[in-house]
Amino acid sequence: MSDLFSKFDPIIDIRANLLATGVTDPFSLVMEKVLSPTEAICNGRETILLGTYNYMGMTFDPDVIAAGKQALDDFGSGTTGSRVLNGTYAGHRAVEDALKQFYDCQHAMVFSTGYQANLGIISTIAGKGDYIILDIDSHASIWDGCAMGKAETVPFKHNDIEAMDKRLGRLPAEAGKLVVLEGVYSMLGDIAPLKEMVAIAKKHGAMVLVDEAHSMGFIGEHGRGVAEAAGVIDDVDFIIGTFSKSVGTVGGFCVSNHPKFEVLRLVCRPYVFTASLPPSVVATAATSIRKLMHGSNKRAHLWENSKRLHAGLRELGFQLGTQTPQSAIIAVIMPDLEPGAMMWEALLQEGLYVNLARPPATPAGMTLLRCSLCAEHSSEQVEEILHRFERAGKKVGII
Ligand SMILES: Cc1ncc(COP(=O)(O)O)c(C=O)c1O
Repeated sequence: MSDLFSKFDPIIDIRANLLATGVTDPFSLVMEKVLSPTEAICNGRETILLGTYNYMGMTFDPDVIAAGKQALDDFGSGTTGSRVLNGTYAGHRAVEDALKQFYDCQHAMVFSTGYQANLGIISTIAGKGDYIILDIDSHASIWDGCAMGKAETVPFKHNDIEAMDKRLGRLPAEAGKLVVLEGVYSMLGDIAPLKEMVAIAKKHGAMVLVDEAHSMGFIGEHGRGVAEAAGVIDDVDFIIGTFSKSVGTVGGFCVSNHPKFEVLRLVCRPYVFTASLPPSVVATAATSIRKLMHGSNKRAHLWENSKRLHAGLRELGFQLGTQTPQSAIIAVIMPDLEPGAMMWEALLQEGLYVNLARPPATPAGMTLLRCSLCAEHSSEQVEEILHRFERAGKKVGII
């Protein structure tokens, strides 16, 4: 009998070799207690969190927590059913209404995760015989949606407008085409040139889907994302988003103005064949989304944090993923896995948590220390973060 697990031997070896150097396993940290959106107890130590997706710091908002508790009391702990059977409660409709208001659009469909939203929407609207033109650095959920739908995938070089134009130009004029882009790319924190790309997609008669997972709540005047900031939101056919980042809970969604959008509730398998979100989750999401509509002060403070951290890390001599701060994500490029893990551990010992990111999540084989800022980080915390980076960087010899 051949062992089906033998294909995992290379990754088992990489992990064993890393742990043999004596570093703490960066992929199994336990948050022993979470004190606020920006602080937790890790290994018994108070730690500043700089590696969460809690961009707008909504996880401890008193109104959000109260809504979740009330929904638990009123509706119980779970729906135990699909959205198309017994799993649509008043709260599911309410969160879809909140999304329609947030995006000022006609349709909103909520999934159990953002991963499932991409999987479901992409695989359902682009099938055999259709083409999906996508950035090579797209999130795994986008690639998995493409694979599930069996459309032909046509990747182009990351953020390369000309390459995208050329690829589209080679496709049959009459074929169904879906261009899939992300507002913010989550590894390096860079944004897509949506103004140009959406115009090119339209020129070639393609529909456009933009995943705004890492920009919702923060980027754009109303927090609608990079498409809003670039002034092209009305030309985007589908926006995908998640509740697991700025909204501060879990869940995914797609919003659209397509007149036939509602049919997706009947034909989209990752929507139909899974249980719907618990009532407490949709209640927290709806409350959070409604508060994010009035989040302009928080958005402004988050931009200040992002600019200060980017400038401070550059001054310290770290190599960053972007020349300028483009989002709430600032990626610090590490020479390789081993020094990256050592730096990660040194930061943790300083009381600072960041994400250690590796291929296949990262582009071009990079090892990254991914820092994501929160609107609830105070300016003092950002200065303290820089001190901790300086001490850890000198200890490990990265700077
Ligand atoms: C670009 C992008 N899309 C979708 C997702 C999936 O979101 P969720 O955590 O809700 O499954 C992520 C998660 O990291 C993401 O980065």
